[in-house]
Amino acid sequence: DQQYPDTPAPAATPAPTPAPELFTWEFATDPYPAYAWLREHAPVRRTRLPSGVEAWLVTRYADAKQALADQRLSKNPAHHDEPAHAKGKTGIPGERKAELMTHLLNIDPPDHTRLRRLVSKAFTPRRVAEFAPRVQELTDDLIDRFARTGSADLIHEFAFPLPIYAICDMLGVPREDQDDFRDWAGMMIRHGSQAAGGRSTSSAEGGGKRTGSPRGGVARSVKMMRGYLSELIHRKRESLPAEPGPGEDLISGLIRASDHGEHLTEKEAAAMAFILLFAGFETTVNLIGNGTYALLTHPGQRSRLQQSLARGERALLETGVEELLRYDGPVELATWRFATQPLTIGGQDIAPGDPVLVVLAAADRDPERFADPDTLDLARRDNQHLGYGHGIHYCLGAPLARLEGQTALATLLTRLPDLRLAVDPAELRWRGGLIMRGLRTLPVEFTPVP
Ligand code: HEM
Repeated sequence: DQQYPDTPAPAATPAPTPAPELFTWEFATDPYPAYAWLREHAPVRRTRLPSGVEAWLVTRYADAKQALADQRLSKNPAHHDEPAHAKGKTGIPGERKAELMTHLLNIDPPDHTRLRRLVSKAFTPRRVAEFAPRVQELTDDLIDRFARTGSADLIHEFAFPLPIYAICDMLGVPREDQDDFRDWAGMMIRHGSQAAGGRSTSSAEGGGKRTGSPRGGVARSVKMMRGYLSELIHRKRESLPAEPGPGEDLISGLIRASDHGEHLTEKEAAAMAFILLFAGFETTVNLIGNGTYALLTHPGQRSRLQQSLARGERALLETGVEELLRYDGPVELATWRFATQPLTIGGQDIAPGDPVLVVLAAADRDPERFADPDTLDLARRDNQHLGYGHGIHYCLGAPLARLEGQTALATLLTRLPDLRLAVDPAELRWRGGLIMRGLRTLPVEFTPVP
């Protein structure tokens, strides 16, 4: 039996206060006190999620890191020992074997190894660096649209469109079709939190108007995207040149890709395009949103960063974006894992078929691993955070996410130097998704610039 030898020495201490309530409005706004309680008193805890499914929440850094790399925890939802009452209602992506769901985050080796190898060439730091001028251009274009007005909602007008256009460009979705993607992705974000088995949004989002059933909204957008991607792959396959040209787009590369002489099926290529959009979109929206919010509410850190950017330095920007990922990262919980055999994590026995959710946001504030974990320190050096995961499913898009995050934050702070929040932080609403953590809106003001 594989042990978890790095589990921090302190045993869970008896709790002086009752367990905090999870998945409430207060929790969505600031989950960190609840995570501190869990780390200390119940570091591996069986928890009933709003969907009714019970999952183990792993909150300490050492346990989290090992669980992410533990191959006895499968990504394949077929391993879920699903209770009869939850059949079809768990919100676990892939449980219903939808066509686009056979992707990297839902599969294990050897299929995972084969598919990841096919696509990883496109995401090397060097390939991504070639994309830097385009990301800068997109960033400037979006800022141009609101710079003269003196105010903006940075989520809708900036953080949301930037990654979707960037990924569409990389994939090779023609510019004239990219606004359709923007609409489908918007629908997925709006309804996704409800359909993802996450918190009840009526409490987590303070009420608000709903349109249609959440699952219906997500299903419709996924269906539109699937239809479009299949057709695009088909069209590109028909007109694919014999040899790859310079800067060939990713979908063409995927079509061309062969592994031991075997081409990717159109279905696999569509699922891959879908996961790249899906994994690379809301995450980056939240990196820009949560990151800007953290900077605006930590004026000392923000002005240090602005001064260093004004001197043309990049070091603080680079460590700073990593720190923003640790401090309030976009992915609150890593995606679903299921025990394939009996195992023990942090002294807790886990039965085969049980779902395990690794709470990255809790692990990245663990005082056993990080000095002053609740302090934002953009210059933090010892910062092996888990914001991009760990092990074989480590974020494939990390170099692209870093590029987008660094470009977005540096350009905002340089072009709009007196950027400030237009509302009291208490008025901001956080999205109620299970996996992701991000703001619904981020209203800002600044001196208009021509
Ligand atoms: C996987 C975070 C941006 C593509 C992951 C995982 C995390 C993560 C935590 C692992 C999940 C798990 O093990 O359950 C982030 C964050 C991002 C970001 C914080 C932005 C700041 C992107 C971008 C792309 C991308 C821009 C691509 C365009 C992927 C893919 C996987 C993945 C394909 C699955 C890899 C695999 O299973 O082998 N990401 N991600 N991500 N990410 Fe990202």
